[in-house]
Amino acid sequence: QQNWVLMVTAQSPTNIAVIKYWGKRDETLILPINDSISVTLDPEHLCTTTTVAVSPSFDKDRMWLNGKEISLSGGRYQNCLREIRGRASSIEDEEKGIRIQKQDWEKLHLHIASYNNFPTAAGLASSAAGFACLVFALAKLMNVKEDQGKLSAIARQGSGSACRSLYGGFVKWVMGNDVNGSDSTAIQLASETHWDDLVIIIAVVSSRQKETSSTSGMRESVETSALLHHRSKEVVPKRILQMEEAIRTRDFPSFARLACVDSNQFHAVCLDTSPPIFYMNDTSHRIINYMEKWNRFEGTPQVAYTFDAGPNAVLIARNREVASLLLQRLLFFFPPLPDTDMDSYVLGDKTILKDAGVKSMKDVEALP
Ligand code: PMV
Repeated sequence: QQNWVLMVTAQSPTNIAVIKYWGKRDETLILPINDSISVTLDPEHLCTTTTVAVSPSFDKDRMWLNGKEISLSGGRYQNCLREIRGRASSIEDEEKGIRIQKQDWEKLHLHIASYNNFPTAAGLASSAAGFACLVFALAKLMNVKEDQGKLSAIARQGSGSACRSLYGGFVKWVMGNDVNGSDSTAIQLASETHWDDLVIIIAVVSSRQKETSSTSGMRESVETSALLHHRSKEVVPKRILQMEEAIRTRDFPSFARLACVDSNQFHAVCLDTSPPIFYMNDTSHRIINYMEKWNRFEGTPQVAYTFDAGPNAVLIARNREVASLLLQRLLFFFPPLPDTDMDSYVLGDKTILKDAGVKSMKDVEALP
Protein backbone atom coordinates (compact mmCIF):
# COMPACT_ATOMS: atom_id res chain seq x y z
CA GLN A 1 0.00 0.00 0.00
CA GLN A 2 2.84 2.33 -0.94
CA ASN A 3 1.37 3.64 -4.19
CA TRP A 4 -0.68 6.61 -3.25
CA VAL A 5 0.17 10.22 -4.11
CA LEU A 6 -1.49 13.17 -2.44
CA MET A 7 -1.38 16.47 -4.35
CA VAL A 8 -2.33 20.10 -3.88
CA THR A 9 -2.12 22.88 -6.48
CA ALA A 10 -2.11 26.57 -5.63
CA GLN A 11 -1.79 29.78 -7.61
CA SER A 12 -0.27 33.00 -6.38
CA PRO A 13 0.17 36.39 -8.05
CA THR A 14 3.18 38.61 -7.71
CA ASN A 15 3.07 41.99 -5.98
CA ILE A 16 4.60 45.38 -6.64
CA ALA A 17 5.67 47.62 -3.77
CA VAL A 18 4.48 51.24 -3.78
CA ILE A 19 6.43 51.91 -0.57
CA LYS A 20 9.61 49.90 -0.97
CA TYR A 21 11.33 47.38 1.23
CA TRP A 22 15.08 47.79 0.94
CA GLY A 23 17.45 46.64 3.68
CA LYS A 24 17.41 43.79 6.19
CA ARG A 25 18.15 43.92 9.90
CA ASP A 26 18.44 40.11 9.97
CA GLU A 27 19.55 38.32 6.82
CA THR A 28 18.70 34.77 7.89
CA LEU A 29 15.18 35.45 9.13
CA ILE A 30 14.71 38.15 6.46
CA LEU A 31 13.60 40.96 8.76
CA PRO A 32 13.34 44.39 7.11
CA ILE A 33 14.44 47.79 8.39
CA ASN A 34 11.13 49.41 7.45
CA ASP A 35 7.48 48.65 6.74
CA SER A 36 6.43 48.39 3.09
CA ILE A 37 3.15 48.51 1.15
CA SER A 38 2.35 46.74 -2.10
CA VAL A 39 -0.41 46.02 -4.55
CA THR A 40 -1.00 42.42 -5.53
CA LEU A 41 -1.41 41.95 -9.26
CA ASP A 42 -4.18 40.17 -11.08
CA PRO A 43 -3.27 36.45 -11.04
CA GLU A 44 -4.39 36.08 -14.65
CA HIS A 45 -1.32 37.92 -15.87
CA LEU A 46 1.65 37.39 -13.60
CA CYS A 47 1.48 34.42 -11.33
CA THR A 48 3.06 31.18 -10.25
CA THR A 49 1.20 27.87 -10.17
CA THR A 50 2.70 25.24 -7.90
CA THR A 51 1.75 21.62 -7.36
CA VAL A 52 3.13 19.86 -4.30
CA ALA A 53 2.87 16.10 -3.98
CA VAL A 54 3.69 13.62 -1.25
CA SER A 55 4.03 9.85 -1.63
CA PRO A 56 5.74 7.06 0.30
CA SER A 57 7.38 6.11 -3.00
CA PHE A 58 9.35 9.40 -3.21
CA ASP A 59 12.88 8.91 -1.94
CA LYS A 60 13.91 12.57 -1.59
CA ASP A 61 12.55 16.12 -1.84
CA ARG A 62 12.75 17.38 -5.43
CA MET A 63 11.62 20.51 -7.25
CA TRP A 64 11.11 21.51 -10.89
CA LEU A 65 10.82 25.14 -11.98
CA ASN A 66 9.28 25.62 -15.42
CA GLY A 67 10.00 21.97 -16.14
CA LYS A 68 13.69 22.06 -15.14
CA GLU A 69 14.88 20.43 -11.96
CA ILE A 70 16.42 22.86 -9.46
CA SER A 71 18.21 22.29 -6.18
CA LEU A 72 16.30 22.57 -2.92
CA SER A 73 19.47 22.72 -0.85
CA GLY A 74 19.45 26.54 -0.49
CA GLY A 75 18.75 27.91 2.98
CA ARG A 76 15.61 29.74 1.86
CA TYR A 77 13.88 26.61 0.58
CA GLN A 78 15.07 24.63 3.57
CA ASN A 79 13.74 27.25 6.01
CA CYS A 80 10.28 27.21 4.39
CA LEU A 81 10.14 23.40 4.28
CA ARG A 82 11.28 23.08 7.90
CA GLU A 83 8.78 25.68 9.16
CA ILE A 84 5.87 24.03 7.36
CA ARG A 85 6.86 20.47 8.30
CA GLY A 86 7.11 21.55 11.93
CA ARG A 87 3.47 22.68 11.85
CA ALA A 88 2.00 19.77 9.87
CA SER A 89 -1.04 17.89 11.25
CA SER A 90 -2.36 14.42 10.67
CA ILE A 91 -4.55 13.57 7.66
CA GLU A 92 -7.05 10.80 7.22
CA ASP A 93 -8.71 10.02 3.91
CA GLU A 94 -10.74 6.86 4.40
CA GLU A 95 -11.89 6.66 0.79
CA LYS A 96 -8.33 6.58 -0.54
CA GLY A 97 -7.09 4.64 2.46
CA ILE A 98 -4.53 7.32 3.28
CA ARG A 99 -3.55 8.05 6.84
CA ILE A 100 -0.63 10.34 7.66
CA GLN A 101 0.26 10.95 11.29
CA LYS A 102 1.84 14.22 12.38
CA GLN A 103 5.24 12.58 12.95
CA ASP A 104 5.13 10.87 9.49
CA TRP A 105 5.64 14.20 7.73
CA GLU A 106 9.27 14.30 8.86
CA LYS A 107 9.97 11.09 6.93
CA LEU A 108 7.79 11.60 3.85
CA HIS A 109 9.34 13.28 0.81
CA LEU A 110 7.90 15.90 -1.49
CA HIS A 111 7.87 16.59 -5.21
CA ILE A 112 7.23 20.19 -6.18
CA ALA A 113 6.48 21.51 -9.67
CA SER A 114 6.23 25.25 -10.19
CA TYR A 115 5.38 27.27 -13.34
CA ASN A 116 5.36 30.97 -14.05
CA ASN A 117 2.74 32.17 -16.53
CA PHE A 118 5.03 34.99 -17.67
CA PRO A 119 8.22 34.66 -19.66
CA THR A 120 10.91 33.81 -17.13
CA ALA A 121 13.47 35.69 -19.18
CA ALA A 122 11.45 38.92 -19.13
CA GLY A 123 13.14 40.26 -16.02
CA LEU A 124 9.87 39.97 -14.11
CA ALA A 125 10.65 36.66 -12.49
CA SER A 126 9.91 37.83 -9.01
CA SER A 127 10.46 35.27 -6.31
CA ALA A 128 7.53 36.84 -4.45
CA ALA A 129 4.87 34.81 -6.24
CA GLY A 130 7.03 31.68 -6.11
CA PHE A 131 7.61 31.49 -2.37
CA ALA A 132 4.08 32.66 -1.48
CA CYS A 133 2.68 29.89 -3.65
CA LEU A 134 5.05 27.23 -2.36
CA VAL A 135 4.29 27.98 1.29
CA PHE A 136 0.54 28.17 0.69
CA ALA A 137 0.44 24.88 -1.24
CA LEU A 138 2.61 23.05 1.31
CA ALA A 139 0.46 24.33 4.18
CA LYS A 140 -2.68 22.99 2.48
CA LEU A 141 -1.06 19.64 1.70
CA MET A 142 0.25 19.16 5.23
CA ASN A 143 -2.93 20.37 6.91
CA VAL A 144 -1.19 23.26 8.64
CA LYS A 145 -3.69 25.05 10.83
CA GLU A 146 -2.11 28.51 10.86
CA ASP A 147 -3.73 31.71 9.69
CA GLN A 148 -2.63 33.63 6.60
CA GLY A 149 -0.51 36.03 8.71
CA LYS A 150 1.54 33.20 10.16
CA LEU A 151 2.00 31.70 6.67
CA SER A 152 3.16 35.12 5.45
CA ALA A 153 5.93 35.02 8.09
CA ILE A 154 7.05 31.66 6.67
CA ALA A 155 6.94 32.87 3.05
CA ARG A 156 9.00 35.88 4.20
CA GLN A 157 11.85 33.49 5.00
CA GLY A 158 11.90 32.41 1.34
CA SER A 159 11.89 35.92 -0.09
CA GLY A 160 10.98 39.04 1.89
CA SER A 161 8.50 40.45 -0.60
CA ALA A 162 6.78 37.02 -0.85
CA CYS A 163 4.98 37.61 2.45
CA ARG A 164 2.90 40.32 0.77
CA SER A 165 1.65 37.93 -1.97
CA LEU A 166 -0.36 35.88 0.54
CA TYR A 167 -3.09 38.51 0.24
CA GLY A 168 -4.80 40.22 -2.68
CA GLY A 169 -5.48 43.96 -2.93
CA PHE A 170 -3.29 46.36 -0.94
CA VAL A 171 -0.97 44.77 1.58
CA LYS A 172 1.35 46.05 4.28
CA TRP A 173 4.37 44.13 5.50
CA VAL A 174 4.81 45.18 9.13
CA MET A 175 8.52 45.13 9.99
CA GLY A 176 7.84 44.01 13.59
CA ASN A 177 10.14 44.24 16.64
CA ASP A 178 10.62 40.66 17.68
CA VAL A 179 14.14 39.21 17.28
CA ASN A 180 12.70 35.89 16.09
CA GLY A 181 10.53 37.62 13.48
CA SER A 182 7.18 36.32 14.74
CA ASP A 183 5.57 39.77 14.32
CA SER A 184 7.13 40.55 10.93
CA THR A 185 4.07 39.58 8.91
CA ALA A 186 1.82 40.85 6.14
CA ILE A 187 -1.66 42.27 6.69
CA GLN A 188 -4.27 43.21 4.12
CA LEU A 189 -5.04 46.93 4.04
CA ALA A 190 -7.81 46.77 1.43
CA SER A 191 -9.31 43.99 -0.65
CA GLU A 192 -8.93 43.53 -4.42
CA THR A 193 -12.32 45.19 -5.04
CA HIS A 194 -11.62 48.30 -2.94
CA TRP A 195 -10.01 50.32 -5.77
CA ASP A 196 -10.71 48.52 -9.00
CA ASP A 197 -10.52 51.60 -11.25
CA LEU A 198 -6.74 51.31 -11.20
CA VAL A 199 -5.07 49.63 -14.17
CA ILE A 200 -1.49 48.45 -13.99
CA ILE A 201 0.69 48.32 -17.09
CA ILE A 202 4.18 46.87 -17.01
CA ALA A 203 6.59 48.06 -19.66
CA VAL A 204 9.38 45.54 -20.06
CA VAL A 205 12.36 47.76 -20.79
CA SER A 206 14.96 45.03 -20.74
CA SER A 207 14.68 41.33 -20.25
CA ARG A 208 18.29 40.95 -19.15
CA GLN A 209 19.03 39.49 -15.73
CA LYS A 210 19.92 42.17 -13.20
CA GLU A 211 23.61 42.44 -12.32
CA THR A 212 23.12 42.95 -8.59
CA SER A 213 20.65 40.66 -6.84
CA SER A 214 18.33 42.30 -4.32
CA THR A 215 20.04 40.33 -1.54
CA SER A 216 23.54 41.65 -2.21
CA GLY A 217 22.23 45.10 -3.21
CA MET A 218 20.45 45.45 0.13
CA ARG A 219 23.48 44.28 2.06
CA GLU A 220 25.71 46.84 0.32
CA SER A 221 23.18 49.62 0.90
CA VAL A 222 22.81 48.77 4.60
CA GLU A 223 26.59 48.84 4.97
CA THR A 224 27.36 51.98 2.99
CA SER A 225 24.35 54.25 2.41
CA ALA A 226 23.63 56.95 4.99
CA LEU A 227 20.58 57.88 2.92
CA LEU A 228 19.09 54.41 3.50
CA HIS A 229 19.24 54.82 7.27
CA HIS A 230 17.73 58.29 7.07
CA ARG A 231 15.02 56.89 4.79
CA SER A 232 14.07 53.97 7.04
CA LYS A 233 13.97 56.04 10.22
CA GLU A 234 12.78 59.47 9.15
CA VAL A 235 10.97 59.09 5.84
CA VAL A 236 9.20 55.74 5.49
CA PRO A 237 7.23 55.74 8.79
CA LYS A 238 5.42 58.96 7.79
CA ARG A 239 5.01 57.82 4.20
CA ILE A 240 3.43 54.54 5.31
CA LEU A 241 0.73 56.44 7.22
CA GLN A 242 0.11 58.77 4.28
CA MET A 243 -0.05 55.87 1.83
CA GLU A 244 -2.50 53.97 4.04
CA GLU A 245 -4.72 57.04 4.10
CA ALA A 246 -4.45 57.54 0.31
CA ILE A 247 -5.47 53.91 -0.26
CA ARG A 248 -8.30 54.08 2.28
CA THR A 249 -9.79 57.19 0.65
CA ARG A 250 -8.86 56.18 -2.93
CA ASP A 251 -7.00 59.48 -3.28
CA PHE A 252 -5.13 58.95 -6.55
CA PRO A 253 -3.08 62.19 -6.54
CA SER A 254 -1.62 61.39 -3.09
CA PHE A 255 -1.18 57.73 -3.98
CA ALA A 256 0.70 58.60 -7.17
CA ARG A 257 2.92 61.26 -5.57
CA LEU A 258 3.91 58.92 -2.74
CA ALA A 259 4.55 55.92 -5.01
CA CYS A 260 6.72 57.98 -7.39
CA VAL A 261 8.82 59.73 -4.72
CA ASP A 262 9.32 56.45 -2.90
CA SER A 263 10.50 54.64 -6.01
CA ASN A 264 12.86 57.53 -6.76
CA GLN A 265 14.23 57.51 -3.22
CA PHE A 266 14.86 53.78 -3.40
CA HIS A 267 16.88 54.30 -6.59
CA ALA A 268 18.66 57.27 -4.97
CA VAL A 269 19.67 54.90 -2.14
CA CYS A 270 21.07 52.55 -4.77
CA LEU A 271 23.11 55.42 -6.20
CA ASP A 272 24.20 56.36 -2.66
CA THR A 273 25.50 52.83 -2.16
CA SER A 274 29.22 52.24 -2.58
CA PRO A 275 29.93 51.05 -5.22
CA PRO A 276 26.72 52.51 -6.72
CA ILE A 277 24.01 50.21 -8.03
CA PHE A 278 22.21 51.16 -11.24
CA TYR A 279 18.95 49.31 -11.67
CA MET A 280 17.27 51.76 -14.03
CA ASN A 281 18.58 52.55 -17.50
CA ASP A 282 18.13 55.43 -19.95
CA THR A 283 14.77 54.13 -21.12
CA SER A 284 13.56 53.95 -17.51
CA HIS A 285 14.64 57.57 -17.02
CA ARG A 286 12.88 58.65 -20.21
CA ILE A 287 9.68 56.95 -19.01
CA ILE A 288 9.89 58.79 -15.67
CA ASN A 289 10.50 62.07 -17.43
CA TYR A 290 7.56 61.51 -19.72
CA MET A 291 5.17 60.54 -16.89
CA GLU A 292 6.24 63.55 -14.83
CA LYS A 293 5.53 65.86 -17.80
CA TRP A 294 2.18 64.27 -18.48
CA ASN A 295 1.11 64.57 -14.83
CA ARG A 296 2.26 68.19 -14.67
CA PHE A 297 0.51 69.03 -17.95
CA GLU A 298 -2.79 67.62 -16.67
CA GLY A 299 -2.45 69.53 -13.39
CA THR A 300 -3.15 66.37 -11.39
CA PRO A 301 -1.47 62.95 -11.52
CA GLN A 302 -2.86 60.53 -14.09
CA VAL A 303 -0.24 57.82 -13.85
CA ALA A 304 2.00 56.61 -11.02
CA TYR A 305 5.29 54.91 -11.81
CA THR A 306 7.44 52.62 -9.74
CA PHE A 307 10.58 50.60 -10.50
CA ASP A 308 11.93 47.62 -8.56
CA ALA A 309 15.45 46.21 -8.71
CA GLY A 310 15.54 46.42 -12.51
CA PRO A 311 14.76 48.80 -15.38
CA ASN A 312 11.15 47.71 -16.06
CA ALA A 313 8.44 50.28 -15.44
CA VAL A 314 5.33 49.49 -13.45
CA LEU A 315 2.78 52.12 -14.39
CA ILE A 316 -0.47 52.56 -12.50
CA ALA A 317 -3.15 54.48 -14.38
CA ARG A 318 -5.93 56.17 -12.41
CA ASN A 319 -8.63 54.55 -14.54
CA ARG A 320 -9.20 52.56 -17.73
CA GLU A 321 -9.47 55.60 -19.95
CA VAL A 322 -6.07 56.85 -18.81
CA ALA A 323 -4.67 53.31 -19.17
CA SER A 324 -5.78 53.12 -22.73
CA LEU A 325 -4.20 56.48 -23.50
CA LEU A 326 -1.06 55.45 -21.64
CA LEU A 327 -0.71 52.31 -23.71
CA GLN A 328 -1.01 54.29 -26.95
CA ARG A 329 1.54 56.80 -25.76
CA LEU A 330 3.97 54.13 -24.65
CA LEU A 331 3.80 52.40 -28.00
CA PHE A 332 4.17 55.75 -29.76
CA PHE A 333 7.17 57.02 -27.80
CA PHE A 334 8.80 53.69 -27.03
CA PRO A 335 7.93 51.49 -29.97
CA PRO A 336 8.88 47.86 -29.43
CA LEU A 337 11.94 47.07 -31.48
CA PRO A 338 12.03 44.08 -33.78
CA ASP A 339 13.59 41.16 -31.86
CA THR A 340 12.27 42.99 -29.02
CA ASP A 341 13.91 44.81 -26.21
CA MET A 342 10.59 46.33 -25.24
CA ASP A 343 7.29 44.65 -24.86
CA SER A 344 4.32 45.52 -22.75
CA TYR A 345 2.05 43.45 -20.65
CA VAL A 346 -1.31 44.96 -19.97
CA LEU A 347 -2.51 43.96 -16.57
CA GLY A 348 -6.16 44.67 -16.25
CA ASP A 349 -9.28 43.88 -18.12
CA LYS A 350 -8.19 43.79 -21.74
CA THR A 351 -11.71 43.82 -23.20
CA ILE A 352 -12.69 46.86 -21.21
CA LEU A 353 -9.44 48.48 -22.18
CA LYS A 354 -10.27 48.09 -25.83
CA ASP A 355 -13.70 49.61 -25.31
CA ALA A 356 -12.45 52.49 -23.22
CA GLY A 357 -12.51 55.92 -24.80
CA VAL A 358 -9.20 56.53 -26.50
CA LYS A 359 -8.16 60.10 -26.99
CA SER A 360 -6.44 61.12 -30.20
CA MET A 361 -2.72 61.30 -30.77
CA LYS A 362 -3.03 65.09 -30.81
CA ASP A 363 -3.03 64.97 -27.03
CA VAL A 364 0.36 63.37 -27.19
CA GLU A 365 1.77 66.00 -29.51
CA ALA A 366 0.34 68.79 -27.37
CA LEU A 367 2.43 67.72 -24.41
CA PRO A 368 5.28 70.03 -23.43
O1 PMV B 1 12.08 40.20 -1.62
P1 PMV B 1 13.22 40.57 -2.50
O2 PMV B 1 14.52 40.10 -1.96
O3 PMV B 1 12.99 40.13 -3.93
O4 PMV B 1 13.34 42.17 -2.52
C1 PMV B 1 12.41 43.00 -3.12
C2 PMV B 1 12.89 44.41 -3.16
C3 PMV B 1 12.07 45.36 -4.02
O5 PMV B 1 11.35 44.66 -5.00
C4 PMV B 1 13.03 46.30 -4.73
C5 PMV B 1 11.13 46.21 -3.19
C6 PMV B 1 9.91 45.55 -2.63
O6 PMV B 1 9.44 46.02 -1.59
O7 PMV B 1 9.38 44.61 -3.25
